Amino acid sequence: MSFKDKVVIVTGSSSGIGAATAKLFAREGAKVTLVGRNVNKLKNIERECTELGGVQPLTIVADVSKDEEAKAIVQKTVEHHGKLDVLVNNAGIGSFSSILDTNYMTEFDRIITTNLRAVVVTTNAALPHLIQSKGNIINISSISGVCPTPAMSHYCTSKAALDHFSRSIAAEVASKGVRVNIVSPGPVKTDITHTMGISDEQVEIMGKSTPLGFLIKSEEVGELVLYLASSKAKSITGSTFVIDVGSTLQGITSSLEILK
Ligand SMILES: NC(=O)c1ccc[n+]([C@@H]2O[C@H](COP(=O)([O-])OP(=O)(O)OC[C@H]3O[C@@H](n4cnc5c(N)ncnc54)[C@H](OP(=O)(O)O)[C@@H]3O)[C@@H](O)[C@H]2O)c1
Repeated sequence: MSFKDKVVIVTGSSSGIGAATAKLFAREGAKVTLVGRNVNKLKNIERECTELGGVQPLTIVADVSKDEEAKAIVQKTVEHHGKLDVLVNNAGIGSFSSILDTNYMTEFDRIITTNLRAVVVTTNAALPHLIQSKGNIINISSISGVCPTPAMSHYCTSKAALDHFSRSIAAEVASKGVRVNIVSPGPVKTDITHTMGISDEQVEIMGKSTPLGFLIKSEEVGELVLYLASSKAKSITGSTFVIDVGSTLQGITSSLEILK
């Protein structure tokens, strides 16, 4: 799957799934735009991408929850590379907040702005360029978009809305030659668990409690993204690809029981 001369934006590529995906694209020759807020982490991924693919990525330090910064990611990429072929909307955050919490709405807005609104902003800015290149979009959702999870209704809602946004725009832009697909992971071993206050021990137990008995690696999610972005998937649009070590077979609520 060569992506030589293809221009690819991966948001949230300073760590986890985004970093792994960016490195896989770089290895296949793509001109990658890295996006995140943590400069040091981005610089490390930039170096690794260059070593893997030979093409130095464009690194953009941006907070996608701010509309102007999210829009500028697309503008700067097109200014730098002259076009855009693939947009991977991956940047996302999670947290625990009960609907009974007094500050629930603050947390709801924070999650929705990053996980949903930012995707809409970058997509809106990117589509004219993707129509020109007959490119495609891959949105990183979550099985939480279909599996209700206590104390994560804000996150679940952001991903459910992202799923339907993706399908709706897939229907709208198909006639223009642009594909839009969704990758929905179950539990992946990344920094997100740390930022959500989940301990390493709890993460390990969570992995053991999945039907297949382990956690997903970021690279596995990245491989799926590359497949969907490639011409091998030219007949696929508006589809959701689940990678979840079987978690939806049992409902993720049971694997989160350990966090109580
Ligand atoms: N890990 C899982 O179990 C799992 C399961 C299902 C779905 N997902 C989804 O996978 C995606 C990636 O998460 P991950 O697990 O790889 O977590 P991660 O390691 O914490 O990575 C999240 C990435 O998003 C970036 N990000 C977050 N907020 C941002 C903002 N406001 N502006 C710019 N960048 C921002 C972070 O960069 P900076 O910190 O540098 O800003 C980081 O690069 C998310 O959409 C998440 O919902 C993860």
